[in-house]
Amino acid sequence: MTLSAHLVEERLKPRRVRFYEQADSTNDLALEWLREGAASGAVIVTNEQVKGRGRLGRTWHTPPKTALIVSIILHPRREHLPQMTMLGAVAIAEMVESSGLQAEIKWPNDVQVNGKKVSGVLAEAAWDGERLRGVALGMGVNVRIDFSGTELATTAISLETALGKRLNRLDLLATLAGRLDYWYGRVGSTALFEAWRGRLNMLGKQIAVGNVTGTAEAVVVDGTLLIREADGNLRRVIAGDIALGS
Ligand code: BTN
Repeated sequence: MTLSAHLVEERLKPRRVRFYEQADSTNDLALEWLREGAASGAVIVTNEQVKGRGRLGRTWHTPPKTALIVSIILHPRREHLPQMTMLGAVAIAEMVESSGLQAEIKWPNDVQVNGKKVSGVLAEAAWDGERLRGVALGMGVNVRIDFSGTELATTAISLETALGKRLNRLDLLATLAGRLDYWYGRVGSTALFEAWRGRLNMLGKQIAVGNVTGTAEAVVVDGTLLIREADGNLRRVIAGDIALGS
């Protein structure tokens, strides 16, 4: 079954939904809707994203009807901004687990299945000067993208490939929305932090983040990673990378 405006609206009631058959970037649409005064919980969904944006300036292209492409509008308190991507990652991980797969989180917020990336999260904040207008929490989940024979084959995977059976994107979307609601009500709590930390797959291991190399020793509540370098120095690597929207 393909996603349509009617099906998505029905299933996500009473949320406000804007559905697009094709969109450049759902995060751009969400930031635009925020400027129009969108309420918390409003959702943008598309079947195909052609100019999707990823973290660190990367692109995130998604062929038609092969993924979940969602941006949700949130109005968190400013001090909770660093937990927005954590919220997205935990909600996605639980949605993945509800399909019968085991999910892990690669710091800071990539959900992985079988050691490969199944989703990405990009939280962007919109400001009126000093005032936080809101956040566009964008999530992309690979449901049936065929990565075989592509350069991403060794690092990315789709849920259906991992599971070996067909999934219903509308059911996945409804589950994701439910988990987002649940955890949004717990932003700032240690429960959200623990749900995230408990799925991290690199604690205690040797890792490299940018030019920092060492043992991933611990994480703190805003998502910061503490890396113990070979010389004994403890380096903090910031995860709360809420990119600036317009
Ligand atoms: C990453 O680099 O891992 C984050 C990818 C985030 C992609 C999602 S898809 C929905 C939303 N719209 C965008 O343009 N990007 C995010």
